[in-house]
Amino acid sequence: MTTLPEKHLHWWTPVMGTREKEMLCEVIDRQFPNDGEYTDRFESQIAQLCDVPYAVAVTSGTAAITIALMACGIHPGDEVIVPDITFIATANAVQWAGGVPVLADVRQSDFMLDPEAVERAITPRTKAIVPVHVSGRSAPLDDLLVIAKKHNLFVVEDTAEGLGSRLKGRQLGSFGIAGTFSFSPAKTITTGQGGMVITQDEEFAKKLRLLKDQGRPVRGTGGADEHIALGFNFKYTNLQAAMGLAQLEDFEQRIEHQRQLFYWYQKHLPESPRLHLLHFDIEGGIVPQWVDVWVDDRDGLHDYLVERGIQPRKFWYPLHTQAPYSQPDNSFPAATKVGHGAMWLPSALTLTEDDIRHICRVVEDWLNG
Ligand SMILES: Cc1ncc(COP(=O)(O)O)c(C=O)c1O
Repeated sequence: MTTLPEKHLHWWTPVMGTREKEMLCEVIDRQFPNDGEYTDRFESQIAQLCDVPYAVAVTSGTAAITIALMACGIHPGDEVIVPDITFIATANAVQWAGGVPVLADVRQSDFMLDPEAVERAITPRTKAIVPVHVSGRSAPLDDLLVIAKKHNLFVVEDTAEGLGSRLKGRQLGSFGIAGTFSFSPAKTITTGQGGMVITQDEEFAKKLRLLKDQGRPVRGTGGADEHIALGFNFKYTNLQAAMGLAQLEDFEQRIEHQRQLFYWYQKHLPESPRLHLLHFDIEGGIVPQWVDVWVDDRDGLHDYLVERGIQPRKFWYPLHTQAPYSQPDNSFPAATKVGHGAMWLPSALTLTEDDIRHICRVVEDWLNG
């Protein structure tokens, strides 16, 4: 039997240190904790990283999708197609924007929104598609963009898991009218919570700013300000932005580690028809947010690993099985299988090749059961 590791091998651990502390102290010394100069700097660095002219920071990835859809002009009753396999925030954001989420099945091969299922889900009320780049892997954008063009639909890319991932040289999130990011604790860059919308469209960016800050076109005083539209308080503070700016300094090292993690799993995971490591096109520019596998007895392997100090994470339940979106399984055969079989292996930035070798040996023990 493989011996137990001393440290816990987590599916994710946020990495924060000296630079975050220094930057936070700077903000505290300046006595301006609100959305401000650091927020502006963080927005412009994300815009630069994504090669887009506009980035608008908000309180969460959920808020980012919500205001991106509202800026598309989603009206009550408008349908928005989302994949059945995603974090529930994708569908919830459609509801908060006033739309009706329409679930579409995914592809079993890569867990991504299935373009054929999207075609089947389109009705005269469909206004937008929200493809999700699960684990940092690209959704089938080529096909989805063609479908969107044919039916005159907006594409808002949920890129919560895809910062740094590129397709044909372009950052995921920059193909549709908007792309959204999350800076929650399990993301490559975490600011506790936080989100961002990127866009190439100036008018769209202006709408995002109004929606994020109570309809104010420019940062206000909180007193005699002009509010030209309805909006939320989705402001993103200097304190959060300070954390983000510190982490962007070593962003390249972070994503290089994520690429290595996948290569280590590729090298050390045993071959078995019972276990399938999903591919990442790293040479093509994709960055794994977390490494995912499909397992014939996912819960069995999950529990076996947990008992041995290794913490994987099971995939989300398909949305059609969650109370707010409950529907029978028959329209979602692939998502139902993914929901039972998919899991993220430990993908924390702190893991070494030895850790991955150890995890893979424990997986082998389980397979040899
Ligand atoms: C695919 C996906 N969409 C949306 C979100 C929502 O982001 P947040 O938790 O920042 O609201 C997340 C992350 O949590 C996510 O993974």
